[in-house]
Amino acid sequence: MGNTNRLRAKITGTGMCVPDQVITNDDLAQRMDTSDEWIRQRSGIQERRWIRPGETPADLGKQAIEQACEQAGCEPGDIDCLLLATLSSQHDFPGSSFFVHEALDMGEIPCMDLRAQCSGFLYALSIADSLVIAGKFKRVLVIGCEVHSTGIDVSTRGRDVAVLFGDGAGAVIVEPQEDEGDEAGIIEVRMHAEGKHARRLWIEAPTSANTPVRITHEMIDDARIFPQMEGRYVFKHAVTRMPEVLLETLNATSHKLEDVNLFLFHQANLRINEAVAQRLELSEDRLFNNIQKYGNCSAASIPMLLAETTRDGRLKPGHLISMTAFGSGFTWASALVRW
Ligand code: ACO
Repeated sequence: MGNTNRLRAKITGTGMCVPDQVITNDDLAQRMDTSDEWIRQRSGIQERRWIRPGETPADLGKQAIEQACEQAGCEPGDIDCLLLATLSSQHDFPGSSFFVHEALDMGEIPCMDLRAQCSGFLYALSIADSLVIAGKFKRVLVIGCEVHSTGIDVSTRGRDVAVLFGDGAGAVIVEPQEDEGDEAGIIEVRMHAEGKHARRLWIEAPTSANTPVRITHEMIDDARIFPQMEGRYVFKHAVTRMPEVLLETLNATSHKLEDVNLFLFHQANLRINEAVAQRLELSEDRLFNNIQKYGNCSAASIPMLLAETTRDGRLKPGHLISMTAFGSGFTWASALVRW
């Protein structure tokens, strides 16, 4: 059942940050056997951002959070709980969220990393929604934060994956509605996973399943430390699961496809999003993609879309938005939100 009749949690601020270093398709073609034409045609990507030496995921996260706080009219010190979605932890142990916590001097509030890859932001949003509705916390910060550039194989061997990913962070603040007449809020989030596909899109090593140590020189030499993807397999599942969960989320509420003002899809590949839009017969004016500029920023991609569309006026108060993602795990999720 949709939660249309209860007091809702709502998104009160959005923010994003990408590094200033632009890497074009031609720049990549200097490092590997690829071309601007191949990348644009297969993925829609024209350029992406990479961090510079000395920059960290926490630096990107900090700036995205400061922007989100400014829009929400609060300070980082006013946040009660920090949920960070990532697949590219600053350190596997303890993760990324603690370094963001440190960068913003957030006192002793709880923080944690959530691992649901490209669906991670929507998973974390669902948890934030539940925490706020339950009255556990008043102001929950949800952030997607990724640095892929330091974890991809930028030689010809890794070109199928390396051309797709970019670095970035996007953040939102989730708070309770102030009064019952307030229509804005998170209406429904649906999430799924199917672990049997985990090895189709993954990084094999380091792994705690390898004895006696997690990483060997051989693993590095064999490039098993870089993401591996069965591209066509991922594509096929994404274009099936995304429409499925989007419709499931709408059907769980009283809303229909035509009620939605804006569809925001995870930015994995423009071709995936075009195929999803085609299957659902969605008109172009209700879609927005920014993968052309940023590449695939995994868990950060949807909050980055939110930050851009709130600032460029595309997303307006009262709008109904549908956000949908698919990613490694496999995971997939969709959220319906009244802005
Ligand atoms: N530049 C040039 N040639 C390349 C590149 C590249 N960057 N990468 C692969 N190729 C070559 C391949 O080696 C292959 O050559 P061959 O025919 O001589 O063997 C040829 O291009 C075709 O390769 P395919 O993998 O069959 O290409 P395809 O048309 O399937 O496109 C792509 C690959 C874009 C990855 C596609 O499968 C896809 O979109 N998959 C979806 C996966 C995705 O977008 N994942 C994003 C991350 S996951 C997520 O966020 C959900």
